[in-house]
Amino acid sequence: MPGPAVVELVGAGFAYEDGPAVLSGIDFAVPEGRSLAVLGRNGSGKTTLLRLLSGGLRCRSGRLRVAGEDVAYDRKGLTRLRTTVQLVVQDPDDQLFAASVGQDVSFGPMNLGLPEGEVRARVRAALEALDITALEDRPTHLLSYGQRKRAAIAGAVAMRPRVLILDEPTAGLDPHGQERLLAALDGLRGSGTTVVMATHDVDLALRWADDAAVLTPGGLRAGPVEELLGDAELLDAARLRRPWAMAVARLLRARGLMGADEPVPGTPEELDAWGARSARRG
Ligand SMILES: Nc1ncnc2c1ncn2[C@@H]1O[C@H](COP(=O)(O)OP(=O)(O)OP(=O)(O)O)[C@@H](O)[C@H]1O
Ligand SMILES: [Mg+2]
Repeated sequence: MPGPAVVELVGAGFAYEDGPAVLSGIDFAVPEGRSLAVLGRNGSGKTTLLRLLSGGLRCRSGRLRVAGEDVAYDRKGLTRLRTTVQLVVQDPDDQLFAASVGQDVSFGPMNLGLPEGEVRARVRAALEALDITALEDRPTHLLSYGQRKRAAIAGAVAMRPRVLILDEPTAGLDPHGQERLLAALDGLRGSGTTVVMATHDVDLALRWADDAAVLTPGGLRAGPVEELLGDAELLDAARLRRPWAMAVARLLRARGLMGADEPVPGTPEELDAWGARSARRG
C-alpha cells in the first residue's frame, strides 16, 4: 500500500511564456518510500512535471504540497523544499559547474551551512553510493559522460533529500553503466529515499518501479506499474510501446504456465530464474 504523499501537486497547471498549456489540472502524489517512473512521449511534459515537483518552476494554477503543507516560494520555503526534494536534470553539463567532482558534490551541503565534518561525511557517503570515490579529485570536464552523470547524481544525494528526482538518468549510459546506476538507486531506496525517474523506456520502468505515472494528452494517470503498463489503451493514448516482459507474462499465463499472482519477470535473468523454478516444480 502506498504511504502518505511526501510531495504532491494538486490541480496543477503550467504553460511556458507565450505558450499553450503543457499541463493542466494535474493531481499527482508521490508516496513516501516508493520508486516511481514518470512515463510519456517526447514533449508530453515529463521534464516540466519534474521541475514543478522540485520547485524549479512554479505552478500557474493549483499548488505544490510537501508533507501535507503548501510550499511557500520564499527563501525559507525554498530551502525547506531543496532539503526535501532534489532534481537531477538530464544533461549533467547543466548541473556540474565546480572544478572537481569533490567540490561539486560538496557545494550543496556547504550552502546549507553545515559544519565541515558533516559536509565531508556527506560527500564521502554520496561518492560511495554512486561508486565514484576514485573520481573525487578529478576535474569534472575531463570525465566521461557516464561519470559526469554519476557525479551530478552524487551532488543531489549529498543533500540527503527524502525524494530524489531524476530526469532520464539512464539516457546515454551503456548497459553496464545502466545496471550500476540502478544498483546505486536500489541502495538509496534501501536507506529510505523515495526515487522518481522520468523515462520513455517502458521495460526499464516495469523492472525498476513500484508505481508509474503516465502522461497522455488527456492528463496523467498514476498507479501500480504492472497495472498501468498492462493497459494497452493507456499506452496507445500515451504513444508508448508495450513492454516485452508484459507480453511474455501474458502468453505464459494464457498457456497456464505462470500464475496470475506471480510477479512479471522484468529481465532475461529473472525470466531464466523463473524458468528454473518452474522446471523444479515440474
Ligand atoms: N523552456 C521552454 N519554453 C517554452 N516551451 C517549452 C520549454 N520547455 C519545454 N517546452 C514545451 O513544453 C512541452 C513539454 O516539454 P517537456 O520538456 O516537459 O517534455 P518531455 O516529456 O520532458 O520531453 P522529452 O521526452 O523530449 O524530454 C513541449 O511542447 C515543449 O516544447
Ligand atoms: Mg524531458
